[in-house]
Amino acid sequence: IRVLSVASEAFPLVKTGGLADVVGALPGALSGHGVEMRVMLPGYPAVMAALDGATVVKRYRNLFGGSARLVTATGGELELIVLDAPKLFDRPGNPYVDDNGVDWLDNWKRFAALARGAADIGAGSLDAFVPDVVHCHDWQAGLAPAYLRFAKGRAAASVTTIHNIAFQGRYDSTVFPELGLPAEAFTIDGVEYFGGVGYLKAGLQCADAITTVSPTYAGEIQAPEGGMGLDGLLRARQAVLSGIVNGIDTDVWNPATDTHLARTYTAQRLAGRAANKRQVENEFGLESGDGMIACVVSRLAWQKGMDLLGECIDPLVAAGGRLAVLGSGDAGIEAMLRAAAARHPGRVGIVTGYSEPLSHLLQGGADAIVIPSRFEPCGLTQFYGLRYGCVPIVARVGGLADTVINANIAAVDAGVATGIQFLPVEAEALKGALIKALDFYADRPLWQRLQKNGMKADVSWTASAARYAELYRSIAPDN
Ligand code: ADP
Ligand code: GLC
Repeated sequence: IRVLSVASEAFPLVKTGGLADVVGALPGALSGHGVEMRVMLPGYPAVMAALDGATVVKRYRNLFGGSARLVTATGGELELIVLDAPKLFDRPGNPYVDDNGVDWLDNWKRFAALARGAADIGAGSLDAFVPDVVHCHDWQAGLAPAYLRFAKGRAAASVTTIHNIAFQGRYDSTVFPELGLPAEAFTIDGVEYFGGVGYLKAGLQCADAITTVSPTYAGEIQAPEGGMGLDGLLRARQAVLSGIVNGIDTDVWNPATDTHLARTYTAQRLAGRAANKRQVENEFGLESGDGMIACVVSRLAWQKGMDLLGECIDPLVAAGGRLAVLGSGDAGIEAMLRAAAARHPGRVGIVTGYSEPLSHLLQGGADAIVIPSRFEPCGLTQFYGLRYGCVPIVARVGGLADTVINANIAAVDAGVATGIQFLPVEAEALKGALIKALDFYADRPLWQRLQKNGMKADVSWTASAARYAELYRSIAPDN
C-alpha cells in the first residue's frame, strides 16, 4: 500500500516540535508493515539544501501566485516529494513566522499550495508515485482532503491527524475564491468555519478517517474545553475518529549509543548517568551535588504549563531540588525563568534556544523531567525520559495520561510504575508531585527501581505502526 504523508515539518530536515519527530519516524516504522510511505514537504531552504537525487516530476506555471515544481528526492534518509515554490517557501527562518514571531501573511496561500500539490498527487498525477492514501498532518495539510473530495476521477483516500487542535489555520472568507475549490465547498459540510475558512476543519470534515495522537486526547477534543470549537464536528464524526499513540525513534534515542552524552549507559549500568549529571551541572551552571536535578525540555508556551512550574521553583529549591531548563518561545515565560535562576544561583539554570544535543544530555543526566502541560495531545519528551531513566513528572492529561504510570511504593515494587502524575493542572498539585519526587529520590534503591521500570516500557513505534497500517488498509480504495 502506498501512502503520501503530508506535513509542514519532518525531522531531521526541519523541526519546531514533536510533529517533525513523528513525521520523520513514520516511514521507517511502517516499512515493515508493507506500507511504502513518501513524505511531502514544502521546499524551505533547509529542505532544498538537503536533497539528493532531485528529479522534477511536475511543473505548475502558476500555483498561488508563482511558478512551482514537484520534486522527488531523498533527504535525511526520507523518500521525499517536495513542493519547490520559491515565492512561497524560499525565505529564511521559521516555517510559520517571520523574524518578529508574526505569522507569515501568506500562510493561507503557502499551505493551500502544499495541500493542492498533495491532492494532485492523490488524484494520480505523478507516475512516479500514485498513493492509495494521503495522510495529512495538522492544519497545514488540512485542505488536501477537501481538494481530494472535490477532485474529478480517481482519488486516494485521506486521513487527517490532529497533533494539536490549538492551531487551526482559520482565515477570512475572502480567501475562499482564491482556493480553486467549487462554490459548494463553502458550506458547513466543507471548508466553511464560523463564517471563514478553516483548514483543519476542512481536513476533519472531508477526510475518510481522523486520528489524533493518543486515546485520551481523542476523548478530550470531543468536549468543549478540549475541542476549541471543533468538538461538535468531532462528536459527529466519532465513528471515524481514533487515538493512536506516538512512539519514538529508538535508534536516535538510545542511551547505550547516544553520542550527545558524556557517557553512555544501560538500565544495568545506571551509574554511567553520573558523568552526564556532572555535564548537566556544567552546562546549566548548577552547583555540583548528589541531590535531585529536575529538568525541562520544552517550547515555552501556555500549553506547556511553564507558568505553573514558575510558582513551584522556590519550594522545589527550598526542599533541596535543583532545576535545569532548556526552552524557547514566549518572552514573558523566559523572563520569569531567568528571574528564578537569578534568585537561586547554582540551583536553577536556564539555557534558552533550541539545542538537540542539550536535549539529549538532559534526558541522560537529569533525574526527572517535568511536563506540567495544560493539554498534551501526546507529548514525546516523557518517552525520551522513560527510555533514559529520567523519571517523568507529568500532568495527567492527553497522551501523558496514557503513557506514564503513576507511582506509589507498591506500584514501583510491583515493577509497574514509571513516573509521577498529578491533577488538577495547578501549581499546588505540581508542587505536591515535585515534593513526592524528592521523597522517592531520597530512597535511592526505590528511585532506581522506578527508573528501571521506565526503561523497560515499550516506547517504540511497533504497536502504533501496526494500527496505522491497519487504518490505511481499511480506507484505501478498491479493497
Ligand atoms: P510539542 O510538539 O508540543 O512541542 P512534544 O513533546 O511532542 O511537544 O515534542 C517536542 C519535541 O521538541 C521533542 O523532541 C523535544 O525534545 C523537542 N524540544 C522542545 N524544545 C526544545 C529545545 N529548546 N531544544 C531542543 N529540543 C527541544
Ligand atoms: C504536537 C503536540 C504534542 C505531540 C506532537 C506530535 O506538537 O503538542 O503533544 O506529541 O504534536 O504528535
